[in-house]
Amino acid sequence: MPKTKSVYTCRECGASFPKWSGQCPDCQAWNSLEEGVAEAGPVKGPKGRGNWTGVASAQVLSLADVQAEEATARLPSGLSELDRVLGGGWVPGSVVLLGGDPGIGKSTLLLQVQDALAAGHGSLYVTGEESAAQVAMRARRLNLDPARLDCLTETSLETVLATAAERRPAFMVVDSIQTLWTETLQSAPGAVAQVRECAARLVQFAKQTGCAVVLVGHVTKEGALAGPRVLEHMVDAVLYFESDSGSRYRLIRAVKNRFGAANELGVFAMTDKGLKPVGNPSAIFLSGQEEPAAGSCVLVTREGTRPMMVEVQALVSPSTLSNPRRVAVGIDGNRLAMLLAVMNRHAGIAIGDQDVFINVAGGIRVTETASDLAIALALQSSLREKPLSGKLVAFGEVGLSGELRPVYNGEERLREAAGQGFETALVPEANLKGVRARMTVRGCRRLTDALAMARE
Ligand code: TYD
Ligand code: MG
Repeated sequence: MPKTKSVYTCRECGASFPKWSGQCPDCQAWNSLEEGVAEAGPVKGPKGRGNWTGVASAQVLSLADVQAEEATARLPSGLSELDRVLGGGWVPGSVVLLGGDPGIGKSTLLLQVQDALAAGHGSLYVTGEESAAQVAMRARRLNLDPARLDCLTETSLETVLATAAERRPAFMVVDSIQTLWTETLQSAPGAVAQVRECAARLVQFAKQTGCAVVLVGHVTKEGALAGPRVLEHMVDAVLYFESDSGSRYRLIRAVKNRFGAANELGVFAMTDKGLKPVGNPSAIFLSGQEEPAAGSCVLVTREGTRPMMVEVQALVSPSTLSNPRRVAVGIDGNRLAMLLAVMNRHAGIAIGDQDVFINVAGGIRVTETASDLAIALALQSSLREKPLSGKLVAFGEVGLSGELRPVYNGEERLREAAGQGFETALVPEANLKGVRARMTVRGCRRLTDALAMARE
């Protein structure tokens, strides 16, 4: 085999250099140069007028002539919550990246999917992490029919592609992309260049053969997918498997999806027979206390296309530190700092000398600004040591001048709250328009009004 030349490409800005250095000469990022294969130089076209690239032109299509057969072609995964996250099942020819902490259940989930798919479509489970015996043991534990599951224990990309090209599976799992290596590169398996090259070749394979490919990816200590950032650009969808430590509930979030809603959330419970979809997640994210506790407020958040009830808990306690602590679990820390400032400035609630802790129950992360009002109410409730009514929900965005701004899909959120047995809702006034929910809905224009109403 001819020895290929290496180039060093910056992970941050994409610039390439013939030599490695500790700092990218282009964007000044540290430690971002990674080894890769050098591409051949540009092909020179024949000289002469008229044909100045030397390449024949290609046909341009009007999109009206392209048949989008998407709806009929999807392969359902067999798990309702996963289908929701994917936007209706696997799309043939697509590549999905599934990341998550070790032991969270990635291999379990994909083995279950393979079993559900095996009925009508060929599928292949490529594993470089476990032996065939280990996979078989898991299949038995999950009560799956081992005769329907095809497994390949292999780490060489070339062998995997040759096998897949011969068998032509409709669905292929690669567990994990970090264990795969290609002989065209000299770096070790798991190195950024290897991961990128293997993923690129698998993407090409998927597009050419129409096979739906799932790549399992490791995550770093910070929780990001290990390997180059470009991996996330290359694939069609990026799913993250998350869980609160110790909880048996697992969340799958689509952070990118070319075929469905981004930020869609799927909820599963890990049982001794594998992962089971949880169809009504609102119930599990509420703490389930009989008596309402001080510092707790329920809100309706919307993750992807589904409204969900979530409980925020606040604890405010006098601090002995000169810089009181601000700890936010499940919400953005900057958002908390902003809310504290708005409460101080516009509602006269000074918490400057107190430690403040915020936690979202159930280990879920709320990224929406619609949670602002509930956080403010929980903070006030903790400060006054007076619980809010157990039948109250709140949502709304708080602006810097203390105004309450409307959130989208207010009606749908109220319907979900009413369905869960809540009786009163505090919402921004602009969300009142045309609302026909079966509960008392009170609109407020400013944060101070809402805080006052909650004190009644
Ligand atoms: P696994 O799928 O191996 O995780 P990953 O591939 O993400 O590293 O999941 C392993 C964990 O799941 C392990 O802690 C045991 C647990 N588990 C169950 O609770 N029930 C089951 O039916 C199975 C197969 C695993
Ligand atoms: Mg695994």
